[in-house]
Amino acid sequence: MLEAILLVGGQGTRLRPLTISTPKPMLPVAGYSCTEHQIALAREAGIGRIILGTSYRAEVFESYFGHGEEFGLELIYAVEDEPLGTGGAIRHAAQHLTCGPDDPVVVFNGDVLTGLDIAGLVQKWRNEKADVAIYLTRVADPRPFGLVPTDASGRVLEFLEKPTTPEEIVTDQINAGCYVFKRLVIDSIPGDRPVSVERETFPALLASNKIVIGVVDDGYWLDLGTPLAFAKGSADLVQGIAPSPLLVGRTGLAIIEKSADVDPSAIVTGGSYVGHNARIGPGTVIDRSVIFNEVQIAGGSRVTNSIISTAAHVGSDCHIVDTVIAERAFIGSNNELVAGTLVFPDERIEPVTI
Ligand code: GTP
Repeated sequence: MLEAILLVGGQGTRLRPLTISTPKPMLPVAGYSCTEHQIALAREAGIGRIILGTSYRAEVFESYFGHGEEFGLELIYAVEDEPLGTGGAIRHAAQHLTCGPDDPVVVFNGDVLTGLDIAGLVQKWRNEKADVAIYLTRVADPRPFGLVPTDASGRVLEFLEKPTTPEEIVTDQINAGCYVFKRLVIDSIPGDRPVSVERETFPALLASNKIVIGVVDDGYWLDLGTPLAFAKGSADLVQGIAPSPLLVGRTGLAIIEKSADVDPSAIVTGGSYVGHNARIGPGTVIDRSVIFNEVQIAGGSRVTNSIISTAAHVGSDCHIVDTVIAERAFIGSNNELVAGTLVFPDERIEPVTI
């Protein structure tokens, strides 16, 4: 049986204020958390046991997923008292693995939306007798990411984290946040201090001539780290551009949960998601946005490319663009919230008189 480690312990600072109470991998994208989408993908690839490496708000995961009975595989929690970084977290979680030293272990960052052929990545790892296989994707602007140039045979040449100068941008291949490790390699990561797998473990493996291969997959990939990426990821899932086993047969211009009350004159489009018990008033337009459960939006408003969290309230005739509104916030009528606005949990923005 194939085992995996899922890294879900980060603070998700770029997605604040949404991540104040909910860890990033548990925020709903198209109605399911990224973790749930990933668990479904892993299950399809034949993974039977996942260890979740948790730290920040660890309790949220266990209370939702339990031991995995409802999700078709076994889930185990490795809780870090202090965040150990990506490498330290993998090492810490490895104490729960049952596989042998030469067996493969799949490792996933918890904020990656992908339709990656996990079984294919494991097969490449086997074929090449690799110590580590790294899933790579190609992006137009690699600057915010870790660059991973490879030679003609796929062997990784170096790791360049978040390049700044044009000379450093030697490839458009980036680390896509999913790996296959030989178990032995994980056991060699120091377990008593924070370690970054990208900055420390991988470069050290290259320096000691280990076999590290990069496997480029040009299928769907998105890092849900920022609000704009999160809204895009949700819209892509809703429209079937991003694949998820959880949404088969439900994709289209919008997903509206049955318990939501959307006025017949409202328009919900562009890959928007409207959650359970949400209420959308007459004439309101929701475009390319994520509306969590129990949100209320009165009539005549326009919400574009925005994320509105649980039980928030938006009054009538508001205009909201590229904005993040955290849970239970109150936006009075006639407000205009422009690109980049962040509204905190329970914050109140008074109505505008016109
Ligand atoms: P930002 O603070 O916005 O950068 O987000 P983040 O905290 O999630 O960091 P980043 O996106 O770099 O993390 C990549 C993945 O590793 C995410 O799935 C995180 O949940 C996870 N991760 C990062 N640091 C740790 C850690 O110390 N422990 C564990 N268990 N997971 C981590």
